[in-house]
Amino acid sequence: MNDLKEEIKSRLSVEDVVGQYVELKRAGRNLKGRSPWGVDKTPSFMVSPEKGIWHDFSANKGGDIFTFVMEVEGISFKEALEKLAARAGVDITKYRGGDPAVSRKKARAHDALNLAAKFYQACLVRNREVCEYVFYKRNLNRKTVAEFKIGYSPANGKALLTALEKRGFKLDELEAAGLLNQYKSDLFRDRMMVPFIDTAGNVIGFTARVIKGGEPKYLNTPETLLFNKSRFIFGLFQAKETIRREGYVVIVEGNMDVISSHQAGVKSAVATSGTAMTEQHLKILSNLTSDIRLAYDGDAAGVKATERAIMLAGDLGIDLTVISDYHGAKDPDELIQKDPALWQDAVNHSVPAVDWLLQKYEESLDLYSVPGKRKYSDVALKLLDYVKDEVERASYEIKIAKKLNIDVSILREKGERLSKKLEQSTKKFYKKPKTKAKSDKIEKLENSLLALKVYGGVVKTKIPLEIPDDDDKLAELELVFNSEHELSSSDDYEKEARELVNLYQQEIAKQKISTLNDKLAELPEDSDEFLDVLHEINELQKSQK
Ligand code: UTP
Ligand code: MN
Repeated sequence: MNDLKEEIKSRLSVEDVVGQYVELKRAGRNLKGRSPWGVDKTPSFMVSPEKGIWHDFSANKGGDIFTFVMEVEGISFKEALEKLAARAGVDITKYRGGDPAVSRKKARAHDALNLAAKFYQACLVRNREVCEYVFYKRNLNRKTVAEFKIGYSPANGKALLTALEKRGFKLDELEAAGLLNQYKSDLFRDRMMVPFIDTAGNVIGFTARVIKGGEPKYLNTPETLLFNKSRFIFGLFQAKETIRREGYVVIVEGNMDVISSHQAGVKSAVATSGTAMTEQHLKILSNLTSDIRLAYDGDAAGVKATERAIMLAGDLGIDLTVISDYHGAKDPDELIQKDPALWQDAVNHSVPAVDWLLQKYEESLDLYSVPGKRKYSDVALKLLDYVKDEVERASYEIKIAKKLNIDVSILREKGERLSKKLEQSTKKFYKKPKTKAKSDKIEKLENSLLALKVYGGVVKTKIPLEIPDDDDKLAELELVFNSEHELSSSDDYEKEARELVNLYQQEIAKQKISTLNDKLAELPEDSDEFLDVLHEINELQKSQK
């Protein structure tokens, strides 16, 4: 794997790879440009051809050509490797078999999860009560249940475990697949099982809904080797052909909304699962279509989610619209239960997200009062910062000015003032970030670790801290020990210490990165030291993953 990486790196320069996405200008020995992620107006993105690395000050991230392509395209390391190998003209098959241990683990997890889905499907048909829930209460038909591989996890806490052990799976393999709880028995019990299916058609996890009530309503697979919630898009496997063909995608909030929507004939619906939309989600979808329709609730959370999507959409050239007319239903699923045709109609009549948000702002503010007008212009202008097209922007400015009954030139003046202020504050942040000498988190971890060392008798685990000789401090540690670590055996103390040492080292690395960032801001960009610090930051960031 490393040979392959090095071979690709030797053939592709960082400025060429990054230059495909970011317009770079030479600045001494480095190159500068605007962040592909940030909303910055000043160039805060830098490339060092000498070191082969990039760094983004506004988003505070950096790395090599591989991490850049991963981040900017929202793809996995493997996909980035393949993409860059193709560009470099390197034959990837020669290097295959890179990390056999990891690929074997993944293959086992895939097998376990695919089998688990089959097991759950078989359990569904055998349980009348659950069938009733799925087929009558949720109104799903056989075709839908089969297409989405819906199943049922038995209440007995070992049903799946026993079945898979019989098929030769070991506990640690099932654990790696995210199928077990902390007591090493079935994680999912007595729930309707909806598999997460990746775009290749493999089961990579589950979302599981209670049937008779209880908490949490949905239990999801934790992050595993296969399941990454910031990237996974529920329903994309079933929707991608339609999205391509019809040229738009509908993003709904719930997994069940996706399933209902497909059954109702709107087969371009997808959802994020157990997380808000991320940049990666949006990038993956924007590769399929630039017409993205959000079907969020009209409540405050829906407004926030829409604002977030607009910010993320940034320079992706996306037409973000909002589907809002649910005829009083609380979500698409409920609307579909009323009448599937109403849902199709709502999807056909989505409105531009900016218009929708302006309308929401108007509803929540008193535009007849002067403070209301000021507030409205604040939020509206902030929104317009994300409207890149000049004509579009000007049209909105006119619309907003009319709403406020003021001259559009006044609004523009205010807009310019606000952008300038924003620019200055980001500049200030970039130039003079302030970091505390020691964060509260680190101090807390140090105390816990010392308490374990002094009062928990931890000896096997190396705790990189000196025992203090100050009596007051020792008394404080005893308090910490008594409040945090009672019961448990000495083995548990060792285990806890190991975990805390890990966390501690991560926090220290974070702290170092932040201090180095401060230092960077003070150094001339053309100096060797600047590049060295940049390099050091990237190394630290790498070690964090
Ligand atoms: P909702 O509670 O709105 O889902 O949560 P829903 O689809 O309308 O549920 P039904 O119709 O009652 O079955 C929306 C999404 O939020 C996440 C899930 O991804 C869900 O689809 N969620 C919700 C969780 O991850 N955990 C929860 O406990 C609840
Ligand atoms: Mn619902």
